[in-house]
Amino acid sequence: MNYLIMHIVGARPNFMKIAPLVKAIKEHNQTGISPHLDQIIVHTGQHYDEKMSELFFDHLGLPKPDINLEVGSASHAVQTAEIMIRFEKVLLQYQPDAIIVVGDVNSTIACTLVASKIQYPASNLRLATCNLKRRRPLIVHVEAGLRSFDRTMPEEINRILTDQLSDLLFTTEEDANENLKREGISSEKIFFVGNVMIDTLFQHLEKAKKSDILNRLGLINQRLRTSDQGLSTRDYALSTPYAVLTLHRPSNVDHKETFLNILEALKEISQKIPIIFPAHPRTQNRIKQFSLEDYFINLSTRDYGLSTKHSCIYCIEPLGYLDFLWLMANAKLVLTDSGGIQEETTVLGVSCVTIRENTERPITVKMGTNIVAGTKKENIINTALSQLNKLNNASNPIPPLWDGQAAKRIVDILVEKLST
Ligand code: UD1
Repeated sequence: MNYLIMHIVGARPNFMKIAPLVKAIKEHNQTGISPHLDQIIVHTGQHYDEKMSELFFDHLGLPKPDINLEVGSASHAVQTAEIMIRFEKVLLQYQPDAIIVVGDVNSTIACTLVASKIQYPASNLRLATCNLKRRRPLIVHVEAGLRSFDRTMPEEINRILTDQLSDLLFTTEEDANENLKREGISSEKIFFVGNVMIDTLFQHLEKAKKSDILNRLGLINQRLRTSDQGLSTRDYALSTPYAVLTLHRPSNVDHKETFLNILEALKEISQKIPIIFPAHPRTQNRIKQFSLEDYFINLSTRDYGLSTKHSCIYCIEPLGYLDFLWLMANAKLVLTDSGGIQEETTVLGVSCVTIRENTERPITVKMGTNIVAGTKKENIINTALSQLNKLNNASNPIPPLWDGQAAKRIVDILVEKLST
């Protein structure tokens, strides 16, 4: 028996989550154990810049998407609606047995909503073997149950609704199981399996060590700079400690006052430690729109031998997966409003300051690497300075089941559910 699995990706963090699932399905098929899972990838086109999308397929060894809906940027309503209109046609054409959606972006909820209401033609015999009440695909949500309890975040709306409509919910931390049960979701649908994003981190850390990003940014000692490619951890010495910043949440960058307040804090922190800031396109647009260029020194990492040792915020273009992972792994401190980076720093044992009022990933705080600083200037500064005084600890405790095997667990459960 063959089943067809359709992966949905749209925005940057989705690619890292789908990659280990594609690999685990391939490995399942190689065992020859029935059923065979055919797989196709649908890219909604929510992110479309080379640096936000294509580069990740290359770095993660992901096959190119089979279908690209090319929706691009728009308001939430238009983007979500466009994905829905275009995805419905694809779903009817391919009639997959299951769709896999990840995380909490607009592509996740748009495709879930379509799949939950679709009616395949009654002549689809394949589905007759699937124990579904309706003629539609099984909806599989990976990274289910995370809650910030802040409904002003578009992602929180996407999470709650996607979880309500999903048939199989795979969680990364035990708090997520509790959140789902509290919202009335049957425990039979919920599986605590670990974190696919961390599967990807473990699978790519060795490759990331070969990145020359530290050389390009001038963060390696002069005498070692010539040894360029293929540095192992023992071959280099950082010439200067640095912090890494990512910032793109609409609530942080879309209002000038809030953004300015955060920038004032960052400016002060940068007096103690240089900050490297790969800027998301949304943030780059806001910097121009609000004329905030004076807070940054702009650099292009295409140039070699940059000097980033001074008391500044260095703004660079968005980095690919391997460069960013290596930059983060060697940082003294990470400042971020991203979700995934809170998790990655936990596994890397790097101190993290979350510039948000809340986190949907409380395990990262429990593990001791992450502190949620809020968005007030003084709080950001004080938290960053206290984190700077802490020693990074690569042997930090790692959350339960964040062991690189989450995708395998998911595929095993999926196979079982499709077969019964
Ligand atoms: C989206 C996700 C967010 C995730 C982030 C990761 C939603 C609601 N938000 O936010 O959860 O953390 O992706 O990056 O889905 N743009 C480009 N090129 C691109 C993509 C975007 O220039 O390839 C610019 C456009 O001006 C666009 C803006 O960035 O309007 C925002 O893009 P959008 O997809 O709406 O949301 P993100 O802020 O990227």
